[in-house]
Amino acid sequence: VSERSAAPAGAEVLVASNRGPVSYGLAEDGTLTAKRGGGGLVSGLSAIGQSGGGAQRLDEGRWSGDGRADAVWVCAALGDGDREAVRRTGGALDPADTGGQRVRMLDIPAEVHAAAYNGIANSVLWFVHHMLYQTPLEPVFDAEFRAQWASYEAYNRAFAQALADEAAEGAAVLVQDYHLSLVPGMLRALRPDVRIAHFSHTPWAPPEYFRMLPDDIAEQLLRGMLGADRLGFLTHRWANAFRACCAEVTGGTEGTLIGVHGLGADAAFLRERSQQADVNERLAILREQIGTGPDGTARKTVVRVDRTELSKNIVRGLLAYRELLAGHPSWHGRVVHVAFAYPSRQDLAVYREYTAQVGRLAEEINAEYGTESWQPVVLHVKDDFARSLAAYRLADVALVNPIRDGMNLVAKEIPVVSERGCALVLSREAGAHEELGEDALTVNPYDVGDTARALHEALTMEAGERGERTARLAAAATALPPAQWFLEQLRALREETPKRNAP
Ligand code: G6P
Repeated sequence: VSERSAAPAGAEVLVASNRGPVSYGLAEDGTLTAKRGGGGLVSGLSAIGQSGGGAQRLDEGRWSGDGRADAVWVCAALGDGDREAVRRTGGALDPADTGGQRVRMLDIPAEVHAAAYNGIANSVLWFVHHMLYQTPLEPVFDAEFRAQWASYEAYNRAFAQALADEAAEGAAVLVQDYHLSLVPGMLRALRPDVRIAHFSHTPWAPPEYFRMLPDDIAEQLLRGMLGADRLGFLTHRWANAFRACCAEVTGGTEGTLIGVHGLGADAAFLRERSQQADVNERLAILREQIGTGPDGTARKTVVRVDRTELSKNIVRGLLAYRELLAGHPSWHGRVVHVAFAYPSRQDLAVYREYTAQVGRLAEEINAEYGTESWQPVVLHVKDDFARSLAAYRLADVALVNPIRDGMNLVAKEIPVVSERGCALVLSREAGAHEELGEDALTVNPYDVGDTARALHEALTMEAGERGERTARLAAAATALPPAQWFLEQLRALREETPKRNAP
C-alpha cells in the first residue's frame, strides 16, 4: 500500500505553466508588490470558481454541485521578487495576491531555470516551432546544448514532482506549452491515476524542420508529450504537423487523443475594459500624437501591438510601411503607423538586437518622411495594456504579419474593440488565419511589397465593406472565449479519457 492511497487532500484540477498568473516586484526596502497577469488560463480557472464545482462534475460546460472547485496552479519563480515571495510563503502564495487562486510557485535554482527557459525553451524549442533558425549560424547542438538539456529535464521533473504532490486521486492536470513538454510522461510515471492534458500555445514544426533536433531529443520530446491522455493545439495545421512528426519519429501517437481548441478573444471583458477611464485618458493622448491631416480630419492609423518578438516580424512590417510611403506620396501627412512593441525575453542577445533594430528603423522612417507637423511612426515600447486598448479603439488598419504564430490574439481582439471598423492585414502563417482568413487581407509575411500593397488596400477600403468585415471578424474571433476554451478541454479530458486506477 503506497502512502498516497491514504487519500491525499489534493486538488481536483491542476494547471502547470512556466509563467504563472502573478509576478512579484521587489523594492529596495524589501517590499513585495504582486502584479497579476491576464490571458486565457486566468479566465479559464476563474470560470471554474464562478460556476461552483464541489461535486466535480461538468455538465454542459458548467460545473454542477456546490462549493468551489479545488484548483491549483503550479508555476515557476521567474525573478528576484518571485523568489523572495517563495522564500516568505514556502511556495503557497498568499491568495490576496492572486485573486483567490491557489498558486504554488516553484523556486527552481536560478541557473537551472535559466538554462531550461532561455537555453532550451526559448532558444531551441521556440526557434524550431517558429522556424526561426538562420542557417549556417544556427542551430548548433553541442556540449553546451546537452548541459542545458539536462537542466530542461530537471526543471520538467520539478514540475512533475510538484504536480504529483498536489493532485488528488484521479485529478485532471492541464500542462501548458513547450517549456513543459516532458512533464506528461514524467507525471504519468509518478501518478498513473491522474488524467493529463498538454496544450501547445505555439505552432508545431513540420517534420523536416523538427528533425533538425538530435534524434534522441526529438524522440524524448514527443514521447514526453505522448505521456498525456490528451494533447491540445490551437489549429488543425499545428495538430497535423505534430502527427506527422510522430509518424516519422515514434511511429504514431500511441493512442493519445488530439484535440483542436482555437482560443478566442473575450468580448465581454474587452468591451468593458476598453471603456474605462485609464483607457480614455490614453486615447486622448494618442489622438493628440496622431494629429490631423491637411484637410483637418483625423489621420488614418495602422496599428500593431506585439511583444518585441522575432516571430512577430515587426521589422518587415516597418519596411512595408516605408514602402507604402515611398510608393504612395498621397499618404504623406495623412497616415500614422502606431506600433507598440513591448520588451520580451531581454536575457537573449538576439532579442535585444531585434529590439534595437525596430527602434532604429522607426527613427529612420521618421527622419526620412516626417515633417514638423507629422510623425509617420509612433513607436511605444513600455508595456501598457490600457494604451493598447486605446490603440485598438482608434485602429483603421490592424497589421498582424508574423512569420509564424500559434494563434495571435491581437488579430482577434482589435476587431472586437475597434470603433471605426478596422481592416485586418493578416499573415497567412498566423494560426488566427484559419478562422479569420476570409475577411482579412492575407499576406505572405516575407513579402514586404505584398504587405505594402495590402496596407494601401486596407487604408482605402470603403467604409461599408470595412464595417461588414469587422463585424464578421469580431464574431469569428469571439467564437470560443477563454473560459469556454478551458472548460471544453477540461471536460474532454474528464469524459473522453478512460478512468485510470490508483497506483
Ligand atoms: C508565448 C508562449 C507563452 C509565453 C508567452 C510570453 O505566448 O506561448 O507560453 O508565456 O509567449 O513569453 P514569456 O517568455 O515572456 O513567458
